[in-house]
Amino acid sequence: MSREAAPATGSDPDTGAVPALATPLTELTGVRYPIVQTGMGWVAGPRLVSATAEAGALGILASATMTPGQLRSAVREVKSRTDQPFGVNLRADAGDAADRVRIIIEEGVRVASFALAPSRELIARLKDAGVVVIPSIGARRHAEKVAAWGADAVVVQGGEGGGHTGSVATTVLLPQVVDAVDIPVIAAGGFFDGRGLVAALAYGAAGIAMGTRFLLTSDSTVPPAVQDRYLAAAVTDVTVTTKVDGLPHRMLRSELVRTLERSGRASALVRAVRHAASFRKLSGLSWSRMVRDGLAMKHGKDLTWSQVLLAANTPMLLKASMVDGRTDLGVMASGQVAGVIEDLPSCAELVARIMTEAHRTLAGLPR
Ligand SMILES: Cc1cc2nc3c(=O)[nH]c(=O)nc-3n(C[C@H](O)[C@H](O)[C@H](O)COP(=O)(O)O)c2cc1C
Repeated sequence: MSREAAPATGSDPDTGAVPALATPLTELTGVRYPIVQTGMGWVAGPRLVSATAEAGALGILASATMTPGQLRSAVREVKSRTDQPFGVNLRADAGDAADRVRIIIEEGVRVASFALAPSRELIARLKDAGVVVIPSIGARRHAEKVAAWGADAVVVQGGEGGGHTGSVATTVLLPQVVDAVDIPVIAAGGFFDGRGLVAALAYGAAGIAMGTRFLLTSDSTVPPAVQDRYLAAAVTDVTVTTKVDGLPHRMLRSELVRTLERSGRASALVRAVRHAASFRKLSGLSWSRMVRDGLAMKHGKDLTWSQVLLAANTPMLLKASMVDGRTDLGVMASGQVAGVIEDLPSCAELVARIMTEAHRTLAGLPR
C-alpha cells in the first residue's frame, strides 16, 4: 500500500500520450479513451471530473447531493477547467429531475447519466436537445426498458461494484445485457486496470466505468484518512449491508456498519429521522418535496415507509466520510476492488496506465 502512484508504464517517451482507442462509447461521447469515471455522491465534484476529462476519459458529476443551484455552479466550474466533454449524474426519481435536466441542457452538458431508469419523457427531452443519455442499470430487464425508450447507451453494474448494487456478478450480468440490447453497453463493477478494460471489450462492452478506482486518485477530494482506509482494506473487508437505507449497499466494513447491523429497528428509525432532517436542511428541500420524492421512490418498488425514510441516511452518512473525513461515523461506499488498489495516481496517470496496459494486453493475446 502506498500513497504514491506507480509510474504509468509504456507511454510514448516523446509525447507521453497513449494512443486513442475508438469504441462506440468514444464515438458517442467524444472522449479519447473508453473509460468513464462514475457519478459518486460527494466524491465526483468539479475537480475530479475536470481532471478525468483532461485525462481523455468521461468524467461524470454527481448531482444527487447538490441543490440545483450548486449543480449549475459545479457545471460552470468544470467548464472553466476543461473544454473536454463530461456528464452529470442525477436521480431519475428526484422530484426536481426536470429542473436538473433543464440545467444540463442550458449549460450544454454532453452526457446525462441516471442512477435509476429515467422516464421516456426525460429521455426524449434530453435527446431532442442533443444530450447523450446513459442510465445506469443493474439488471437485464432495466437495460431492455431504457433501450426501448431511446437511451443512447447503458452502464451495467455487477454486484462487485460500490454503492447500491445487485447480486449478479459483472462476469454474468455483462454478457447477458450485451446480448439483450443493441445500444452500447459500458461495464461497471470491479474494474481498475487495462486487463479489465480488454476483458470488458471482449465481452462486447464499449468501455468500462469505475467508481472506487477514481475515488482513490490524487485528484479526488476525499480526505486522506478516508482514502487510507480504502488503501488498507483487503477484498474481504468490503461487504454488502441493507442496514443503511434498506437497499443492498456495498461499502467498507467499518465500526459504523457493525453498529448498524447490531442495532434494532427502533434505533434505526430514530437515526433515520435525524438524518432526514439534516438532509432536508442541507439540500434545501421542503418536507412536502421530500414526501413526494419518497412516494416516487416507493412507487413500483417493494419499500416500506421506514425504508423510504432510511433513504436520507445514505447522503448524510456518505458526507460524514467523503467530506468530513469521519471514518468512524461515515459510510465508505466501496467496490470490492478497494482490496486490490494500492496507490493514489492522478487521473492522468491512471488513465494513461490503464490504456497502456490495455494496448499491451490486446497486442499480447494469443492469435
Ligand atoms: C463512494 C461512492 C459513492 C457512490 N455514489 C453514487 C451516486 O451518487 N450515484 C450513482 O449512480 N452511483 C453511485 N455510486 C456507484 C458508482 O457510480 C459506480 O457505479 C460503482 O462505484 C462502480 O463499481 P466500482 O466501485 O467497482 O468501480 C457510488 C459508488 C461509490 C464507491
